Formats: sequence, C-alpha cells, structure tokens
Amino acid sequence: MDQDIISPEAAPRRRGLVGVLESRQPKRRPFPEYRRFIEKHYDGLAGKLTGFTGLVTGHETLAGRLIRPRAFDVRGCKRILDAGCGNGRYTRFLIRHADPEALITGFDLSRHMLRRARRRLKSDRVGHVAADLTRLPYPDAFFDAVICGWVLEHLPDPRPGLRQLARVLEPGGKLLLLVTEDTLTGSMCSRMWHCRTHNRQDLRRVCQEVGLSWHRSLWFSGLHAMFRLGGIIAELRRTED
Ligand SMILES: C[S@@+](CC[C@H](N)C(=O)[O-])C[C@H]1O[C@@H](n2cnc3c(N)ncnc32)[C@H](O)[C@@H]1O
Repeated sequence: MDQDIISPEAAPRRRGLVGVLESRQPKRRPFPEYRRFIEKHYDGLAGKLTGFTGLVTGHETLAGRLIRPRAFDVRGCKRILDAGCGNGRYTRFLIRHADPEALITGFDLSRHMLRRARRRLKSDRVGHVAADLTRLPYPDAFFDAVICGWVLEHLPDPRPGLRQLARVLEPGGKLLLLVTEDTLTGSMCSRMWHCRTHNRQDLRRVCQEVGLSWHRSLWFSGLHAMFRLGGIIAELRRTED
C-alpha cells in the first residue's frame, strides 16, 4: 500500500480522559506531512534527549530485560532488523546476544537518530539505513528476527507498517513489537512524542489480519505485568504461507 493514502481517520478517537490526553497530531494532517513533522521532531532536541529520557524512565535498562535468552531470544538468528532503531537502545542488546556471524541492520526515518545510534554503538557489526516503515528497502522474507520498538504509533494506520514487517520476515520468523497502549500513562506519552496509542485487542486483530500471529505477551517485569504498565509488548510470528 502506498503510504500517501493512509487515512488519518484510521486512528480512532478514544473516550474519556485517555481521549482528552492523547495527541491529535497523527490525525491533524495527511500522512506525508505528519511524517515530515515527526522526522524533524526526532532530528531535533526531542531526539537528542531520548538517551536522557530513557535513563530517567528506566527504559535504557529495561530494554535489556526483553532482549535476552529467556525473553526475545535472538540466538541462532541469521539476519536481524531493528526497525525504527532510534539511538540504538535495543540494537546494543542485539549485538550482545546475537551470534557473532549474525547480520544486524537498523533503519530510522531520522538521519540524526541514525547518527546518534552509530555514535553510541561504535560497532562495525551494524548496518544503518534511512527508511520509512511503510516502504522498506529489503527483499521479501529477508529477516528471521525483527524488533520494532515504539515506532508503529507514529503511523495513523498501523496496517501498512505491519504489512511491511510481515513482508520482510521469513515464514516462522519472530517479531518483537512494542507499542504505546491506550492507557492513562500511554496517552500522556503520546502527547510527548506526538503519536497515537493502540488498543491491545484491536492491535492483536490487525496483526492477525496481516499474517502476524500473537505468540505471547511480554512485560518488562512482574510488577509491570501486575499493574499492566509499560505498554503493549508482544512476540509475534510470521504465519507460514
Ligand atoms: C520513540 S523512538 C523509538 C526508538 C527505538 N526503537 C527505541 O525504542 O529506543 C521512535 C523512533 O521511530 C522513528 N520513526 C517514526 N516514524 C517512523 C517511520 N515512519 N519510519 C521509520 N522510523 C520512524 C523516529 O525517528 C524515532 O527514532
């Protein structure tokens, strides 16, 4: 699907306080304009501060709880993609746990974020490219593992992005998806990052529609699971053709 025809109406209006707090930016204008706005947002100060905000919120450390043998296990994977890699927060754990011969690639809309990732990772193991989630420059079934953290909420309609992730994954390949949830804390985060939120059940249905089956839900910790905090985190599998 061409990203230019993504309809802003695809992001549903939420009710109650979540509806009041949630950012309206994704619905305010056509997708190409919104995407330029997001690119500038991350090119600038907001993107620069992601390292700092990650430390304050604990996300820098929590990332390591997800990418490890007992959670999202990348051992044995041959080609791994960090989709919307930002400053490389998740890539560094891919480097730590992937097999030494695994190919690790990251892309992001913002060239400045890619520069920050390169500076931070200082690794010749990772290839970086500027790309849009709705138009990926990779062949079909190229990767056997993909991580996409806090990016999908920057599309008014998640389907084109999810279709691309499903396309580049080989059948049976695994996807770790992290998405801002339609909770009070999620809607406050959406304000800060000018993104939308997702409803867990709706997202699960849409993933199924595009050929990604919900393998299991994950949480940063037992405490996050108990209080249902930290957003939607799921391991999915590309369904066999
Ligand atoms: C909240 S950051 C998350 C970065 C990283 N995945 C992490 O978890 O630390 C969102 C990232 O998605 C990127 N992004 C937003 N829209 C995108 C799109 N349409 N295609 C590719 N990247 C996008 C932004 O530039 C930004 O680096």
